Amino acid sequence: MRILLTGGCGFIGSAVVRHIIRNTEHHLLNIDCMTYAASEENVASIADDPRYQHQRISINDSASLEVALREFQPDAIMHLAAESHVDRSIDGPGAFVQTNVVGTYSLLDVARHYWNSLEGEKKDAFRFLHVSTDEVFGHLSMDAPPFTETTPYDPRSPYSASKAASDHLVRAWHHTYGFPAFVTNTTNNYGPYHFPEKLIPLVIINALEGRSLPVYGKGENIRDWLFVEDHACALVRAIERGVPGETYAIGARQPRSNIEVVRKICALLDELVPDPAGPRERLISYVTDRPGHDFRYEIDPSHAEKCLAWKAEHDFDAGLRKTVQWYLEHKDWWQPLREQRYDGQRLGAKK
Ligand code: DAU
Repeated sequence: MRILLTGGCGFIGSAVVRHIIRNTEHHLLNIDCMTYAASEENVASIADDPRYQHQRISINDSASLEVALREFQPDAIMHLAAESHVDRSIDGPGAFVQTNVVGTYSLLDVARHYWNSLEGEKKDAFRFLHVSTDEVFGHLSMDAPPFTETTPYDPRSPYSASKAASDHLVRAWHHTYGFPAFVTNTTNNYGPYHFPEKLIPLVIINALEGRSLPVYGKGENIRDWLFVEDHACALVRAIERGVPGETYAIGARQPRSNIEVVRKICALLDELVPDPAGPRERLISYVTDRPGHDFRYEIDPSHAEKCLAWKAEHDFDAGLRKTVQWYLEHKDWWQPLREQRYDGQRLGAKK
């Protein structure tokens, strides 16, 4: 296949790019406008492959997108470009509406016209995969069953509302125009190249530097953790086998409370690089909670596992160990990014 992928220099996008070039025969055009969370280094290991190319184009730039599609002639589009950090969306929602909602609209519009210009088998086989989040389903109480493909939408942050809006646009394009699109909704990812504003990389790096580990509220909120390389594998299966109009809820059945995650990272670092000053748990600091903080996310991935013949390979302990080791071995990747990390005012506010 010839796959045009958006957001391929970001965290999840770059894992998909590396997976495709290393494990398939597909050709790839990566469209990434290189925001703060993107880095050429994330794809450096495959960048010289003749099946890979990158164009620095924004998904809001319809004219350039149109040319890229016409010249590359993709068989499929994987749409991963998005603003993704909930705290940033609380402090500055505008960028989320612009990229996630308007950008997705602009990509859909150009993609539909391109698809309309195709004929025969190439038109029938064309697919558009929109990669989204489980946060669109709102949040769960402790005893509620996990989210599935049929859970009603109830987004509660500017970020999740913008992703929900983009999901609705994609489904409307399928329903109204017959555009061959489908959607994946996925739980929290973690792993190599995760930008150090998200919980896991932030805690690893702060702990290594002897800084405080900010835990929002009481640390009781629960997230369901999927190793990013398992997610990449699921998305490639989805683009190869996904059915237009379908939804696939992707997760690894690995729910953990935030405080459990932070303690596990501390224990791993204490084992791998002991700190003469004492156990890292001493650095844990309970800070003011995130406004509107969703309590629990969890996905039941049964449908995706069956339809995509996929299952996550890593449990949380195995994936976290790999992740911590990767950060220990890649200081040159994350040290320059420390300057750009998000440090919203709320993070400093101790309880
Ligand atoms: O569920 C999928 C979503 O997971 C994705 O759609 C989002 O793009 C991704 O950012 C992630 O959202 P979260 O808000 O769950 O991820 P984050 O790493 O920001 O936070 C994870 C949990 O840890 C959450 O309950 C908030 C908490 N937290 C986060 C940070 C950054 C802390 O306690 N301290 C922190 O410093």
